[in-house]
Amino acid sequence: MRAVAINPTTRARARLWLRGEQAFGQEALPLRKRESATEKPQIPPPSPAKTAPAPKPPAKVPVALRQLPDPTPIELYTTAQDSPPLALPPLPPLSREEKTRLLAELEEQQVRICTKCRLSQTRTQTVFGEGDVDASVFFIGEGPGETEDQTGRPFVGRAGKLLDQMITAMGLKREQVYIANIVKCRPPGNRTPAPDEVETCSPYLVRQIELIRPKVIVTLGLPASKYMLSSNSTMGRLRGQWRQWRGIQLMPTFHPAFLLRSYTVENRQAVWSDLQKVMDAVGLKGKKRDVEEPV
Ligand code: URA
Repeated sequence: MRAVAINPTTRARARLWLRGEQAFGQEALPLRKRESATEKPQIPPPSPAKTAPAPKPPAKVPVALRQLPDPTPIELYTTAQDSPPLALPPLPPLSREEKTRLLAELEEQQVRICTKCRLSQTRTQTVFGEGDVDASVFFIGEGPGETEDQTGRPFVGRAGKLLDQMITAMGLKREQVYIANIVKCRPPGNRTPAPDEVETCSPYLVRQIELIRPKVIVTLGLPASKYMLSSNSTMGRLRGQWRQWRGIQLMPTFHPAFLLRSYTVENRQAVWSDLQKVMDAVGLKGKKRDVEEPV
């Protein structure tokens, strides 16, 4: 059979698309044909297929994304409605250690003992959030579910497993991003958090974002997207469009739990396309990644 020359850009795009397909559970994908000697694949370079692979170095968030702006005092806004300025005030040059300490103080001295709303009466424990304090990508979900309420960790149930796959497909590890929710306590029966619960709890999330200062925020699902954008729009309209939250780029996308319920090719492609925009924004696209290639 005659070999057909494929443009390297098309090839790279196809690989990226297929990586998304695999990330969202499509396992029966066509196997990649061996590269011909003249073709130069871009993402990632072909691995020496049959020899035992050398241990892969961990994917790194580019150093440039960790730089902090000029020093000025941090202000804490109590709610999104508190006449927020257009952009967050520049952050003092906090070290990793200081950020870690301030976040731990927030968790231990305020969040864990919080009884400001009714959700505190039914929770097992608070779910503060977790991840790299210098993360360039900050995921925001809706609220803890049953497994999160039991473990005190965000996104560790079924939806969490899918979020993990999404993060891996982006070329990151879960420990390299930050993950939190708009409310820190489980709403009974996993109902949507009520507006007053979100308002009461949101200063904690705002403080986390102020300290971590990610390059991109990804809101997962309608409650998080609506709250962060003060919008009444639908998820269908919000997703996939770049927005700003106080000077930080924000990408709304579907919640992994919605994706699990409505596991269509169209929805998976939509999420993968949103994540690719995020990858572009943080300099991850086209970089060699330590995830298995799906083809
Ligand atoms: N787990 C979380 O932590 N948040 C969600 O929104 C869903 C599951």
